[in-house]
Amino acid sequence: MSHEPADLSTNENPLGPSPAVKLAVAREARRVHRYPARDDSALRTALASHHGRDLTPDHFFAGSSASEILAFLARAAFAPGDEGIVCSPTFPVYAHTMAHQDARLVDVPLDPATAVHDGDRILAAITPRTRLIYICNPGNPTGVVLPAADFRALLDRVPPGVVVVADEVYYQYVAADFPDTIEQILAGRDVVIVHSFSKGYGMAGLRLGYGIARPDLVRRFGRFRLTYHLSAIAQAAGVAALTDQGHVEKTVALTRDGRRFLAVELDRLGIRYWPSEANFVLIAPAAPEAALARLAADGIQVRPVEGPGRVACLRISIGRPDMNRRVIDALAQETA
Ligand SMILES: Cc1ncc(COP(=O)(O)O)c(C=O)c1O
Repeated sequence: MSHEPADLSTNENPLGPSPAVKLAVAREARRVHRYPARDDSALRTALASHHGRDLTPDHFFAGSSASEILAFLARAAFAPGDEGIVCSPTFPVYAHTMAHQDARLVDVPLDPATAVHDGDRILAAITPRTRLIYICNPGNPTGVVLPAADFRALLDRVPPGVVVVADEVYYQYVAADFPDTIEQILAGRDVVIVHSFSKGYGMAGLRLGYGIARPDLVRRFGRFRLTYHLSAIAQAAGVAALTDQGHVEKTVALTRDGRRFLAVELDRLGIRYWPSEANFVLIAPAAPEAALARLAADGIQVRPVEGPGRVACLRISIGRPDMNRRVIDALAQETA
């Protein structure tokens, strides 16, 4: 058995970045003694043209990663004592950025069985201090999607002034019914979409992400950007990545194949998992610590996390076919 290390713990792109990105990085590397463009309008123009519809560059704000976009949102939204609603288990950066602002985290846990958001309980948790509601869709660590009709029903009932953060960094991988959140933005709703170049574009090391929202919300939430806030390399790489959607399609096809393979094999092994629409799968093995140790012994790093209902789980990124096979072989040994 191969023991070549496989890091399946951070949901990276197993194909790496597009060749167009590597070229852009090499080109810009020769000019790093120069400051980058003073603003990021070239990137925002490319994003508007990529997403199309009636979006303009003014619907976008960029940051050094989706995590920084989340920090911008928290900084602009929360005064001390204000509240943000999260649905646990979820992406920990919501809680971190809220804590930096001394905001109060209000948890409305996901359904313990299905890992779906509970719209009624989210609405019931809103108070006059609520500023942001975080909807991680597909959810991390669950991979589960909040369907379009449920998301719209939630937006219809959220009071004006409370902003919904639609963290959709895994949107490219979704094959199921999924909200058209851009349509909601164009309809004037208080929603901010969070996207990242770390996942489908395979650029986690470059740190680049962006938000999409109504231009007045972009002005409000994007205002903490510093001059020259994005490196010339990151900006050029972002523009280059957008030109190579074929690379994203290849990534997505590989991931969906891996997802199907893992689902079939996990069913065969009788290991509980949640139906994922992202580039990872959350499993609840009978003996999670032993499964983690077995995977580690085979050189495979995965992420131990608390799943819905606080069950001990492992989140496993979907890798190349040989890596997915090794995951299943290791889990099979553990369940044998
Ligand atoms: C749901 C979710 N949002 C945001 C991010 C942050 O992505 P970035 O690498 O752009 O900071 C991640 C990263 O794993 C994530 O899982």
